[in-house]
Amino acid sequence: MMVKRCFAAGVCWTLLMGCVFAAHALTFEVTDGNSTCIKAELSANFSISYNTTNGTSVARFVLPSSAAVGSSSSCGGGDVPPELVVMFGAGHTLALMFSSDGLLYRVANMSLQYNLSDTATFPQSSSSRIVSVMTNVSEISARLNSTYRCLSSMSVSLSTEVNITFSDVRMEAFMNRANLSTNESVCSADQTVTTTAPTPSPRTTVAPSPVPPPAPERGNYTITNGNGTACLLALMGLQLNITHHSKSLNKTVSEVMNLQPNRTTASGSCGVPRATLVLSEDLTNLTFTFTLNLTTQKFYLSAVNVSAFWPDMTDRFVEGNGSLNFLQCSVGRSYMCSAEQMLAVVPTFSINTFRLQLQPFNVTANRFAAAEECRVDQENMLIPIIVGAALAGLVLIILIAYLIGRKRTHAGYQTI
Ligand SMILES: *[C@@H]1O[C@H](CO)[C@@H](O)[C@H](O)[C@H]1NC(C)=O
Ligand SMILES: *[C@@H]1O[C@H](CO)[C@@H](O)[C@H](O)[C@H]1NC(C)=O
Ligand SMILES: *[C@@H]1O[C@H](CO)[C@@H](O)[C@H](O)[C@H]1NC(C)=O
Ligand SMILES: *[C@@H]1O[C@H](CO)[C@@H](O)[C@H](O)[C@H]1NC(C)=O
Ligand SMILES: *[C@@H]1O[C@H](CO)[C@@H](O)[C@H](O)[C@H]1NC(C)=O
Ligand SMILES: *[C@@H]1O[C@H](CO)[C@@H](O)[C@H](O)[C@H]1NC(C)=O
Ligand SMILES: *[C@@H]1O[C@H](CO)[C@@H](O)[C@H](O)[C@H]1NC(C)=O
Ligand SMILES: *[C@@H]1O[C@H](CO)[C@@H](O)[C@H](O)[C@H]1NC(C)=O
Ligand SMILES: *[C@@H]1O[C@H](CO)[C@@H](O)[C@H](O)[C@H]1NC(C)=O
Ligand SMILES: *[C@@H]1O[C@H](CO)[C@@H](O)[C@H](O)[C@H]1NC(C)=O
Ligand SMILES: *[C@@H]1O[C@H](CO)[C@@H](O)[C@H](O)[C@H]1NC(C)=O
Ligand SMILES: *[C@@H]1O[C@H](CO)[C@@H](O)[C@H](O)[C@H]1NC(C)=O
Repeated sequence: MMVKRCFAAGVCWTLLMGCVFAAHALTFEVTDGNSTCIKAELSANFSISYNTTNGTSVARFVLPSSAAVGSSSSCGGGDVPPELVVMFGAGHTLALMFSSDGLLYRVANMSLQYNLSDTATFPQSSSSRIVSVMTNVSEISARLNSTYRCLSSMSVSLSTEVNITFSDVRMEAFMNRANLSTNESVCSADQTVTTTAPTPSPRTTVAPSPVPPPAPERGNYTITNGNGTACLLALMGLQLNITHHSKSLNKTVSEVMNLQPNRTTASGSCGVPRATLVLSEDLTNLTFTFTLNLTTQKFYLSAVNVSAFWPDMTDRFVEGNGSLNFLQCSVGRSYMCSAEQMLAVVPTFSINTFRLQLQPFNVTANRFAAAEECRVDQENMLIPIIVGAALAGLVLIILIAYLIGRKRTHAGYQTI
């Protein structure tokens, strides 16, 4: 009974929160025939400075609920990008133009046209012009097939005179459903202020914090050659550690992210003397190059390249190092390291590996060959052996002492 009441109260609270969040958010939908291609729920506050007859003034207003999708909106196609055009008030227009690179979509261009002859909004304006401003700098980007979510306030400056502050944003472009995807790409502001986020983020990018994330899940990545047989096998948990300039904190931070196997796709190529494994996850591309030295008959990880654009980054992070010599192992064997291992690629980028086993060459029957263990594992294994040997030695000494003791006692009896 108690449980039921708590549950009911929880639901009420959730509904109430929903109402509070939805209070100002308006919904806009761009459709093509019967299918929706852009859907946006948002609230917007405008702050526009303009010249009046006796100085300058700032008009502040919210996007009114009478705002509607304009007919120049488009789902795109050919060379035309998809665009959401919202008309409101006395001839004002807000337009969001989207672009995509096949992995992410973003607001590539945001523009506003405002009509200074609207005296209700711009009292005593010295001009009655229509002013157009636009920017192609926006933080709004999300994975394809996911909803961009930013409940926190987010300001976009379109010019020195015009700022728009968005909040309660849920938006998706390049859709192929009627409703917003439940899969969300959460903006960095919502990630740091997790208490205001009603749903947990599917991403594991931990906003820069001193607390390291838990050990990553182990991925099973396989590359197959043309006829479907595996030629590169890798089982490993990966944690990326990138030092970059944080947008939210305006300083350099080391951000640690776990690669999520079920969001990661593996591709690559096999060959001699080089094999590559490319792991692509949402906002991260990672390339491992393995080289086989035919003289020494050993293979090793010779190069790592990374390209990442995480939500809190000011720029895309692109780094690599082509002269590495990690994870060395005899050809025909697999390399194994159960212990955590750090691969320092460049000073600003390292990878922590967990429970790793891999074989980039000579894979037969889709199975790992006999494993060659890393030194840490060998040392870890040595400890129980040493302890065991010490114990065995102790037992032996006690036994010998006992036997000698017994012999002495026997000898004593005989003399009597
Ligand atoms: C839209 O739906 C209606 C009825 O559901 C159907 O008759 C029409 O062909 C559909 N149009 C397109 C472009 O799919
Ligand atoms: C827009 O934002 C910038 C930076 O936050 C601020 O300096 C400027 O005064 C704002 N302009 C208006 C019209 O609100
Ligand atoms: C206001 O007037 C000044 C000078 O006349 C001009 O430089 C400025 O650009 C004007 N500002 C706006 C917002 O039109
Ligand atoms: C301009 O005039 C209006 C009323 O005439 C007044 O309310 C406003 O404060 C004045 N603005 C400035 C910058 O003097
Ligand atoms: C998005 O979904 C469509 C259809 O469900 C699929 O064809 C496409 O590959 C997906 N794109 C991504 C990047 O997941
Ligand atoms: C990895 O995946 C392959 C095929 O996808 C499967 O045969 C193999 O058992 C998996 N290995 C582990 C340890 O899950
Ligand atoms: C698949 O191709 C590789 C070389 O590309 C060859 O070594 C292997 O025997 C082939 N396996 C099968 C089952 O045909
Ligand atoms: C990430 O890298 C920084 C800088 O090299 C280092 O101080 C930090 O300990 C690393 N964190 C983890 C979890 O590896
Ligand atoms: C970021 O920090 C630098 C100096 O540490 C400062 O000059 C700059 O104004 C700051 N930027 C923002 C947006 O706060
Ligand atoms: C990925 O794995 C996590 C944890 O195992 C799970 O909660 C989540 O639903 C999975 N996501 C997908 C898209 O399979
Ligand atoms: C193979 O290893 C040997 C010995 O370390 C080295 O001298 C040689 O340059 C290596 N060959 C290649 C192709 O890297
Ligand atoms: C990852 O690679 C794909 C395909 O080359 C590219 O479109 C995407 O922008 C890359 N992502 C990052 C974060 O660099």
